[in-house]
Amino acid sequence: MALLKIARMGHPVLLARAEPVPDPKAASVAQLIDDMIETMEDIRGAGLAAPQVHVGLRVFVYRVPEERSAGPDDPPRAVQALINPTIEAIGDEQALRVEGCLSIPGLRGAVPRPARVRYAGWDRAGEPISGEASGFLATVLQHENDHLDGILYPMRMTDLSRLAFEDEFARFGLLP
Ligand code: NI
Repeated sequence: MALLKIARMGHPVLLARAEPVPDPKAASVAQLIDDMIETMEDIRGAGLAAPQVHVGLRVFVYRVPEERSAGPDDPPRAVQALINPTIEAIGDEQALRVEGCLSIPGLRGAVPRPARVRYAGWDRAGEPISGEASGFLATVLQHENDHLDGILYPMRMTDLSRLAFEDEFARFGLLP
């Protein structure tokens, strides 16, 4: 087990497109996932993608913290991994949710994204998994999947007046 160094916005690895994992059952991939989980939990993050730890592979880890759960359709979830994910929107509904990123420390922004998504991929054991997501889970899956395509959440924002430092966000909020 090891804590990994997080790449911050401005590092080219965060703007590159990651490569598919050749073998989702490889022991090296499980080791990477374990180290990413340890790193994410150490910083109390809700998601971490491999490019954020300078690894250009299509894998991320995520969880739904109890305080971020958005109701019965979006229950708290223990940490999970998704390898070679595919994510697609269900319907046209958009949701505006506040996001942060371990690679952009100290900031929060309101990001519009599809409210519901269908996801598929392989888990830490290399077994196929799939499902539908709404609420915070839909947000974190799309945020982490974007990292695999070199996209950071401010690049998804349509109103940069809703980008704020965490302490000012705590004082004033973001949404009207
Ligand atoms: Ni992020």
